[in-house]
Amino acid sequence: MRLRNALPVAHADVLLRPLAERDAVAYAEGTTDDAVRRFAHLPLPEYTAETVRTLVRTDVRAGLENGTLAVLTIADAVDDIFLGSLVLFDITAHTAEVGFWLSPNARGLGVATKALTAAVVLGDRLGLHTLTARTDPANTASRRTLVAAGFETVGAPHESTAPSGAHVRTQHYRLRLN
Ligand SMILES: CC(C)(COP(=O)(O)OP(=O)(O)OC[C@H]1O[C@@H](n2cnc3c(N)ncnc32)[C@H](O)[C@@H]1OP(=O)(O)O)[C@@H](O)C(=O)NCCC(=O)NCCS
Repeated sequence: MRLRNALPVAHADVLLRPLAERDAVAYAEGTTDDAVRRFAHLPLPEYTAETVRTLVRTDVRAGLENGTLAVLTIADAVDDIFLGSLVLFDITAHTAEVGFWLSPNARGLGVATKALTAAVVLGDRLGLHTLTARTDPANTASRRTLVAAGFETVGAPHESTAPSGAHVRTQHYRLRLN
């Protein structure tokens, strides 16, 4: 199935849908959180609401059209409130890497695990064979979330290049799809 047609995806009370201009303020604010700055390694060093709106009209739209990048909002399925961000990047015919972060007030509620489970549904719809992820070995919340969603570790931590371009030591994860 084509990426655009495979969205949105819901799991329990969480929805994954494309990042939209109405998310701009909450997204920009979320990126200022210390844990997001430390662990998420986002492509840009800083995000303003205007930057996010521009991204929605450019990279986000292009990625959905060409099927290689899904910049998604994790939203409350009932009222569509922005809870965080989940990105599938480097999407090929077989695999994609997943990255995610939550706004601080959405943490500790199981939202990340549900969002990753929705990402697995999306991966299935796209006909992927695997999803991969990388995280700082010190990022306990991320590691537990990945394992809760069914990811398994691959090898030992080693240096890799993050979406920001930074060289970071990461534990790699993989989840096999049907
Ligand atoms: C990683 C992140 C998305 C997890 O979200 P969350 O709401 O805390 O996740 P959940 O509530 O689903 O909790 C997942 C697990 O982590 C545990 N956990 C959450 N915060 C924790 C913390 N600070 N320290 C240790 N464990 C933690 C929870 O107890 C739960 O474990 P369990 O299922 O074994 O009980 C969130 O902390 C975040 O946005 N962090 C900053 C960005 C980031 O690190 N992104 C991942 C980059 S790879």
